[in-house]
This record gives sequence, structure tokens and C-alpha cells, in this order.
Amino acid sequence: MKGGGGCFFYEWRRKQLSLLLFIFVVSTTLILWSWSNNNYKTPLLFTSTFFPAAGDVKVIQSNHNHNHSHNNNKDDDLIEEVQQVVNLASPPSSDTQPDDDKHSANHRDNHHENITQNVDKSVSDERYSDSKPPKQHLVESAAPKKHDPAVGVGLPMSNVKNRSCNFAKGKWVRDDSRPLYSGFGCKQWLSGMWACRLTQRTDFAFEKLRWQPKDCQIDDFSGPKFLKRMQDKTLAFIGDSLGRQQFQSLMCMITGGKERHDVKDVGKEYGLVKKRGSVRPDGWAYRFPATNTTVLYYWSASLCNLQPLDPKNKSTYIAMHLDRPPAFLQRYINRFNVVVLNTGHHWNKGKLDANRWIMYVGGKPNTDRKIADTANAKKLTIYSIVKWVNGQLPKYPGLKAFYRSISPRHFFNGDWNSGGTCDSTIPGALEVLKNESSDSVASAAVKGTDVKLLDITALSEVREEGHISRYTIRPTPGMQDCLHWCLPGIPDTWNELLFAQI
Ligand SMILES: *[C@@H]1O[C@H](CO)[C@@H](O)[C@H](O)[C@H]1NC(C)=O
Ligand SMILES: *[C@@H]1O[C@H](CO)[C@@H](O)[C@H](O)[C@H]1NC(C)=O
Ligand SMILES: *[C@@H]1O[C@H](CO)[C@@H](O)[C@H](O)[C@H]1NC(C)=O
Ligand SMILES: *[C@@H]1O[C@H](CO)[C@@H](O)[C@H](O)[C@H]1NC(C)=O
Ligand SMILES: *[C@@H]1O[C@H](CO)[C@@H](O)[C@H](O)[C@H]1NC(C)=O
Ligand SMILES: *[C@@H]1O[C@H](CO)[C@@H](O)[C@H](O)[C@H]1NC(C)=O
Repeated sequence: MKGGGGCFFYEWRRKQLSLLLFIFVVSTTLILWSWSNNNYKTPLLFTSTFFPAAGDVKVIQSNHNHNHSHNNNKDDDLIEEVQQVVNLASPPSSDTQPDDDKHSANHRDNHHENITQNVDKSVSDERYSDSKPPKQHLVESAAPKKHDPAVGVGLPMSNVKNRSCNFAKGKWVRDDSRPLYSGFGCKQWLSGMWACRLTQRTDFAFEKLRWQPKDCQIDDFSGPKFLKRMQDKTLAFIGDSLGRQQFQSLMCMITGGKERHDVKDVGKEYGLVKKRGSVRPDGWAYRFPATNTTVLYYWSASLCNLQPLDPKNKSTYIAMHLDRPPAFLQRYINRFNVVVLNTGHHWNKGKLDANRWIMYVGGKPNTDRKIADTANAKKLTIYSIVKWVNGQLPKYPGLKAFYRSISPRHFFNGDWNSGGTCDSTIPGALEVLKNESSDSVASAAVKGTDVKLLDITALSEVREEGHISRYTIRPTPGMQDCLHWCLPGIPDTWNELLFAQI
């Protein structure tokens, strides 16, 4: 459905809204009337009218019935479930995926990405550029630094309103005040490859949907409010390129996409400097001086500790310590007030091999065949990092830790390298009503800990139209990006939900 799809969608939405309004007025009258007679009927009436009948709005994934017959993990339903989320629409046999870090290709450095470069090129580039030279500082900083007691003992963050409400349940509603920044702007932080406004894409209805949680009011995001709440505080994103998208999105949201000359690059304070021979630093850190607020991103696709086996040899294998946190996190956690972790899309044999990552557990090469399965290895790492961070929390009362659930892919009728597409201009559904997270591994990992789940999977799963899709300056036939999101777009919502919980 192209072109008119957006129009159709809004026409349909408009009708639906009018209908809802009508029902609402009628039912309010009924409620008021019945309330005076029969108190207990009220909640029932209200629930059934506020949310349209199931037939009106598709609930997640009902429109795409993919066949996941490759169940070779019968002993582990959790993992199978996550695989289904990760492998939406991908053939069971495919073991490689587009790198979610296309920007690691050389020409896409920092804020000077060559946006004319096509997806094809970047996907093939990354196969090689991903195997970066060993990161020397990882080795150096492997031992946890002495903790600075002065930091992290700040006041607990203000907003502890409604702990019981589930932000993941709710619906997408049209809001003409969106997006929160223009995709034509924010050039200071927004990578050109993710700014769909700079491409030939013509449908932008996806920018105008706001997530409305069912059972909780969320405080409208505003840059000044965010900065005030984060006065003298540091927020760190650590994860893969989807984490980087969330970071760029937040920078744009805080600034409203306006150029800011006062914001200071403080990457140096965190060792985030471009090293000799590398294309870009391993992350970025920016400080808003008026409130002394720092927002940073560190690139850690595996979310575990990586140590070159031979630091002097550029083509050495790299020990991937599944049960140890990234050195960067160990070293700087004492300076963070909010940390948002994610991983997921690098866990396949193709990527591990290309990176020369060798799984280690307990400081030794892994010999457990069950763990050798990448899905199990990923699960072990997620559990390990959550456990480790949870163990740190008592030391840093000012720290709030979030594990961000998996960002869904939407390759339909193929995978990233076999013609998989995400052409839709309308959402797959607007409403998510289930209580359980769609990322069962992540939700099980945080259970019983003080690490919070930033649960964005189901609400993103219904937004298949929000990906970069085929829109690059020079589109490549047969190659689409159904993994990353257009910005402004879905990751803005992740940040709104984050903001509501800090
Ligand atoms: C899924 O695939 C299996 C094996 O290829 C097949 O037997 C089964 O009928 C398929 N199910 C659906 C719903 O297509
Ligand atoms: C961008 O990439 C295109 C094609 O790869 C190349 O011709 C052009 O010179 C590049 N521009 C810059 C500024 O690197
Ligand atoms: C808090 O959550 C409960 C249950 O989810 C809900 O009924 C209530 O309206 C919420 N309150 C606010 C202020 O969001
Ligand atoms: C800025 O905030 C940090 C804590 O994040 C604090 O250690 C530092 O002293 C603050 N700087 C100023 C100038 O207040
Ligand atoms: C570097 O490591 C690779 C992979 O382990 C190995 O094949 C190569 O011989 C090593 N080179 C040196 C100089 O040790
Ligand atoms: C979801 O949770 C609510 C409150 O805990 C419960 O009333 C409701 O029945 C649950 N819904 C489903 C589909 O399990």
C-alpha cells in the first residue's frame, strides 16, 4: 500500500476517532446515569468503550503469520520466543543479518556521513569494518576503577509516580504536535543515514503517532524538563546501533533539533576519542553546561567484555567474556545516574565469526555446547549483565539502571540480504494489550532485580512502517533496512518512556 496509504489511514483514523468520541459521549451519559443507580457497573462500561472492540484494531502481529517451524530449542521456550521476535519474517536458515552498525563503515563517520552511499555498499563494508582493530583501552581498563564516593550519591530522581503501571501496554494515537524535532534539522547529532526526511520518502504519517500507555499518564517530554530533572547528572546509553539511534534521538529531543553551540563535547572525559587507525570513536559524550547534564553513548554491540587474546596482534581473536560486563561500564558506572543497556542483533554466528569473537565463560574458552548456541550465549550475557548491574546498585543510590528490550526487525518475504522488505506506510496495528513483555528473555532477566525493563518491543513491533526501508539517497534495488528506524520516529517514544521513569 503506497502513496494513498497514509491518507487512507488517517481517513480511517478520523472516522474511528469520531466514532469513539460519539461512543464516549453516549457512554459517559450512560455511565453517569448508571452510576447513580448501580455503582459497580461503571468500570465495565468504561473499559469496553474506551478501547474499541478487538475487531477494530489489530493487536500485534496478527496480520503477519510467519512460520517459525525451526524449533530446535524445545528445552528453552524463552529463547525460542525471543528468536521469534528477533527473526520476524526471516528464514530459519539465515544466520547472517545486516549489521546494525552500518555506520561502522568508514565513510559514515560522526556527523559527516556520506549519505549518498547506498545500503548495499554499507552492508558489504561492515562485514570487514566490523572486525575492528583490537581496542587497546578495553584491556587497560579491564580492572574496575576505584569508586569515587562523591559521585552517584545524588538525590534519587524525582519522578516515582506510578510504579504499578505498564508503559508497554497502550496504543498509538495521532498527535499533530509531533514529531518533537524536525528530521530536516538536528544535523549536529542526527546521522544523515537515519534522517528519512533527507531521502525520497514521501509518507511521513509515521512521525505523527504518539504512544499512549493504557494505565498511566506520561509526563510530556520537553528538553528543559529533561535537563532540569537531570541537573548535575549523567545518562549513558550502552549498546549497539539501536542504542545509538536512541542516543541521537534523545539529543534531538532535548534540543528540539536546534543547533546548540553551548553544548560541550566531553568525550575525552570518558576516553571516547578517535584512536589512531580507527574511523570514529567508540562513543560520544555531550554536556549541557547550564544544567551540567551529560548524555553519552558507548558502542558495545555484545554488551559483554571483549579482550583481544594478543593485544599486539591486530588480527588476533578476541575473547568475548559472556559473563563479564564491558570494561567501559565497569570503569564509569560510578559516574552514571541513568544507564540504558541493550544488545541483540549481533548475536549470530556470522557476526561472531566476522568479529573473531570467541566465547569465554568463567575466564576460559566455552566448552558447553548449549552455550555455544548464540541464542543461549546471548541469554547468558543478558542475565549476567543485569545481575552485575543489580549488584552495583546498592553502592550507587543515585543510579537508575534500565535494560532496553529488543528492537524488532521487520523483514518480510525475505531477510536483509534476500530481498526482505518493509514497504508498508501504515502501522501493522495500533494497540498493544498484552500484559507480558514480547521480549521474554529480557523481562525474565530483570525479574527480581532493581534493574528496570525499558520495554519497547511490542509497541515497536506494530510499527513496521517506521523503518528506513528502501529510502536512501540512492536506493539499492532489493536491499532494505528493516532494522533501523527513521528519525524522528519510534526511538523517540523509547525516550519518552525512559523520561517517564527517571
Ligand atoms: C510451517 O512449516 C512447516 C514445515 O515447513 C509446515 O509443515 C507447516 O504446515 C507450516 N505451517 C504454516 C502455518 O504455514
Ligand atoms: C560519497 O560517496 C560517493 C559514492 O560512494 C562518492 O562518489 C563521493 O565522492 C562521496 N563524497 C564524499 C564527500 O565523500
Ligand atoms: C497508576 O496506575 C494505576 C494502575 O495501573 C492506574 O489506575 C492509575 O490511574 C495510575 N495513576 C497515574 C497518576 O498514572
Ligand atoms: C556536574 O555534575 C557532576 C555530577 O554528574 C558533579 O560531579 C560536578 O561537580 C558538577 N559540576 C559542577 C560545575 O557543578
Ligand atoms: C595474529 O593472530 C592470528 C589469528 O590468531 C594468527 O593467525 C597470526 O599468526 C598472528 N600473528 C602474529 C604475528 O602473531
Ligand atoms: C492483565 O493484567 C490485569 C491486571 O493485572 C488483569 O486484570 C488482566 O486480566 C490481565 N490481562 C490478561 C490478558 O492477562
